[in-house]
Amino acid sequence: MPTIDHAVVTGAFSYTGGHIARLLLDQGVAVTTLTRHPDLRDEFAGAVATASFDFDAPDELRRTMEGASVFYNTYWIRFERGGTTFENAVENSRLLFEAAADAGVRKIVHISVSNPSPTSALPYFSGKWRVEKELERVGVPYAIIRPTLVFGTGDLLLNNIAWAIRRFPIFPVYGDGEYQVQPVFAGDVASQAVAAAADHGSSVADAAGPERFSFSEMLRLTAAAMGVRARFLRTPPGIGLALTNIVGFLKRDVNLTRDEIDGLTAGLLTSDSPPTGSTKFTGWLDNHARDLGRSYESELRRNWTLRT
Ligand SMILES: NC(=O)c1ccc[n+]([C@@H]2O[C@H](COP(=O)([O-])OP(=O)(O)OC[C@H]3O[C@@H](n4cnc5c(N)ncnc54)[C@H](OP(=O)(O)O)[C@@H]3O)[C@@H](O)[C@H]2O)c1
Repeated sequence: MPTIDHAVVTGAFSYTGGHIARLLLDQGVAVTTLTRHPDLRDEFAGAVATASFDFDAPDELRRTMEGASVFYNTYWIRFERGGTTFENAVENSRLLFEAAADAGVRKIVHISVSNPSPTSALPYFSGKWRVEKELERVGVPYAIIRPTLVFGTGDLLLNNIAWAIRRFPIFPVYGDGEYQVQPVFAGDVASQAVAAAADHGSSVADAAGPERFSFSEMLRLTAAAMGVRARFLRTPPGIGLALTNIVGFLKRDVNLTRDEIDGLTAGLLTSDSPPTGSTKFTGWLDNHARDLGRSYESELRRNWTLRT
């Protein structure tokens, strides 16, 4: 197994990249993160070196990656906002891959999403497909990892669902709620990503947890684990979104988009392959439900403003 002494990880001060960085540090790997928040006070207390994402300066990106054996890419956007589009995100991903290739990185581990497709009507999923194609073109051995719905410490989506379940008498279920989700633990995604770097070849694999539920069941399990008596109301997706947007309005945030509801109801957050993660969502809930959803995590604050 080739040894890694230095890796570059995007988003070590955010969610999935944070879990990857933690695992690498535990294995004695030096970690540099590309982030828009290089000065953020972080949980690693200075153990992670920082460099800014600057897509206008590809030479800087290359310099940051020089000397690293592996580049772990988590960069992506949840939705389009202001001048930032999925088209930009595809192009920025290409710049990152090319910088890694020019820097002589031995392997690129890329976090994609379950069920990306060139024909998807959802630009998140079709954009992810295009990014995978850009990666294949760049000529560096790669591992593409396609997670379903990622749960764990630092998560935003499930946390905010839990937050709303705690506070409101009803929670909207988009459509019939019978579509499936297959949550995967962030730590298991990180383990898969780190293990994938050890292999010399290229690979594509889903990252999915050992349990599958209907969306309604996942909500019920979450409420029960938190000890909250919640009422779930089936609504047409548009009405459910409007109700969810009330929270978005109150919190000045974007909780969920119509595209995300469409991806969810189409069952895209599941895998047809055998599960890769071993951590059960239900077991994790038992241990974390006490803290889950206690405070609201803003997507706009985390990902669309400059944090300090
Ligand atoms: N979370 C899930 O449930 C889930 C499910 C399937 C696939 N994925 C994929 O897994 C990867 C990591 O997801 P995550 O939820 O862990 O994301 P994240 O940590 O919030 O963000 C990942 C990276 O993208 C950057 N980023 C996020 N929003 C941005 C924006 N608006 N403008 C510019 N840069 C932005 C972050 O920059 P900073 O470092 O500056 O914060 C970070 O480097 C993504 O590729 C995502 O598509 C996630």
